[in-house]
Amino acid sequence: MQLDPATLDAERAYKLLIGAIMPRPIAVVGTRSPDGASVNLAPFSFFCGVGSNPVTLCFCPASDEAGGEKDTLRNAKPVAEGGSGEFTVSVAPHRIIRQVVAAAEGLGYGESEFALAGLTPIDGVQVRAPRVAESPVAFECRTMQVIRTNPGAPSGGNLVLGRVVMIHVDDAVIDARGRIDPAQLDLVGRMAGLGYCTTRDRFDLPWGRAALER
Ligand SMILES: Cc1cc2nc3c(=O)[nH]c(=O)nc-3n(C[C@H](O)[C@H](O)[C@H](O)COP(=O)(O)O)c2cc1C
Repeated sequence: MQLDPATLDAERAYKLLIGAIMPRPIAVVGTRSPDGASVNLAPFSFFCGVGSNPVTLCFCPASDEAGGEKDTLRNAKPVAEGGSGEFTVSVAPHRIIRQVVAAAEGLGYGESEFALAGLTPIDGVQVRAPRVAESPVAFECRTMQVIRTNPGAPSGGNLVLGRVVMIHVDDAVIDARGRIDPAQLDLVGRMAGLGYCTTRDRFDLPWGRAALER
């Protein structure tokens, strides 16, 4: 089968994307409204690291069915665009995955998904946006740029690029060599639809051509 994306509606294209690009890590994104009055939390699996010099990451809150901004984007966009210019990304271990998914509830702007999900907000050290206390790793970020692939259109893509200004790591997930232990971290990935996966079935391979000999 070959598919020309120009012939697909957004729903079908979305299902193809999430069906093919998986598992996806989950960014649990905490933000604060520009006036400082309210906090917001939501999971995003269109998420990845970008670079380590400087440390940067990105996530993608799609535009809603009316083409409007999700609360996270409204809060995280740069100050020059009316946002707070800050956000945090907490990771999603298996023991809090139900609360993380609950935070996807579409509450009204200004209502806290932290409260709904039963997760605890802690203000950042470098940013005012809150992170998730129950998560073992979190990144505090300043928003560098938002790239909008189809501004104002339903399901349009928005890439939020953030510079990491503080990293929090729970000592309990650090191994004897000083590295993050994936078994202790126990992260969950998102599959398609309502599916998730654990990171409990892992294997190693040597680099490059040596991998062919295994
Ligand atoms: C595990 C998970 C991953 C999600 N990933 C995304 C994503 O990458 N992009 C997106 O726009 N919505 C994603 N969603 C849906 C948002 O979390 C949802 O629309 C949420 O209400 C947005 O919250 P906000 O309006 O407070 O920003 C995801 C939901 C779940 C449960």
